[in-house]
Amino acid sequence: MAIWNLGSINIDHVYRLDSLPRPGETLASRNYGQGLGGKGANQSVASARAGARTHHLGAMALGDDWVLARLADSGVDVSAVARLPDEATGHAIILLDRDAENAIVIHAGANRAIDEAALADTLSALTPRDTLLIQNETNGQVAAAQAARTRGARVIYSAAPFDLEATRAILPHATILAMNAGEARQLFAGHPGDLPVAGLLITKGSEGAEYRDLTSGRTWHQPAFRVTPVDTTGAGDTFAGYFAAGLDEGLDVAQALRLASAAAALKVTRAGAGDAIPTRPEVEAFLADQPI
Ligand code: RIB
Repeated sequence: MAIWNLGSINIDHVYRLDSLPRPGETLASRNYGQGLGGKGANQSVASARAGARTHHLGAMALGDDWVLARLADSGVDVSAVARLPDEATGHAIILLDRDAENAIVIHAGANRAIDEAALADTLSALTPRDTLLIQNETNGQVAAAQAARTRGARVIYSAAPFDLEATRAILPHATILAMNAGEARQLFAGHPGDLPVAGLLITKGSEGAEYRDLTSGRTWHQPAFRVTPVDTTGAGDTFAGYFAAGLDEGLDVAQALRLASAAAALKVTRAGAGDAIPTRPEVEAFLADQPI
């Protein structure tokens, strides 16, 4: 069993502000930092720190070696990350206000220049016991999802950043669709009617999360753990990566939801994205302190 993640790798440039700027406004940041990010890389770190064998499939520039080193140090197999001499490493400008809410601008760079033939070769190793994760920050998602389903693997698709057309194209090849509440509202407005997936994972921040099994009609609700947020960036990625890893190790939906919810709760107490994702022992210790 393994997780394969076709995902973005970003350098996050994080600016802390009292409030997010309005159009035309210039604000001085109180603090600046750089770290590992990208919805894909964050999900890979989460999955690996949860304990799953995790392969990241993606691309970045030459140089920026610290980025790859951080992924590898988290336990992610980075041998299928291509280094592209003519592309920039993807990056994100992240503005964080004093309530820990964020606004993000991304530049895809190498994330959208992934060689799809090489990707197809790598994906030929998937087995029915494997899981493919995809999001909306790379190229090649539809072909990857098709290839994974052809091999009988589970495909968990995070429709983020939300793009209705991209989501419509991938849905027929996804097993589980993962979204936050805002993304779910946009999808239901743009795509009324039944969704052709087996499961729907909706994360709702402080209101918790739910998983709907669209085959049986059963829904599981997971309340959020109460924490004081410092930075919500990457919380959804942490949830998705931990949830995928939980299913991969054989947890049932309720157990995977609880594990992922605890990991996301811990993440929001820390500044940063990929670098701030907790390890499995940290999550287990947090859970041990929670009332049953
Ligand atoms: O989901 C959070 C991530 O979105 C950040 O790490 C940033 O890189 C953007 O991709």
